[in-house]
Amino acid sequence: MALYSEKVMDHFRNPRNVGIIEDADGVGEVGNPVCGDIMKIYLKINENQVIEDVKFETFGCGSAIASSSMATEMIKGQSVTEALTLTNKAVTEALDGLPPHKLHCSVLAEEAIKTAVKDYYDKNGISYDPAEFPAEHECEHCMEH
Ligand code: FES
Repeated sequence: MALYSEKVMDHFRNPRNVGIIEDADGVGEVGNPVCGDIMKIYLKINENQVIEDVKFETFGCGSAIASSSMATEMIKGQSVTEALTLTNKAVTEALDGLPPHKLHCSVLAEEAIKTAVKDYYDKNGISYDPAEFPAEHECEHCMEH
């Protein structure tokens, strides 16, 4: 069996939603000092708290790029509260799986989205439960490498 699914290869070769949003309503950046990968997510959110547009920049491995691409497709058109429920497991499943030692790459996508939503909440004075959001970055999975 090939190491990477066709979907992973497709999203790696033709990533969707790459770029930046200049006037983004929420920006989230997460990175890992060990593997050096950085993911940045930009959200454009309308007055109904729906994600109208999303873009990402990922400086990292192919799995991180494929995960960002898939994750941005999944949250586009969703409300911010729906986007907060996106798990790295759901992203991985949508990609038809990732090799076990690459699962941590999809965690970056989940955390970058949550960090961007938190930024949006902070900028708009919307209260939230901090427990719902990742702590200032520490990726245990990457630390193992
Ligand atoms: Fe760290 Fe892929 S190797 S995100």
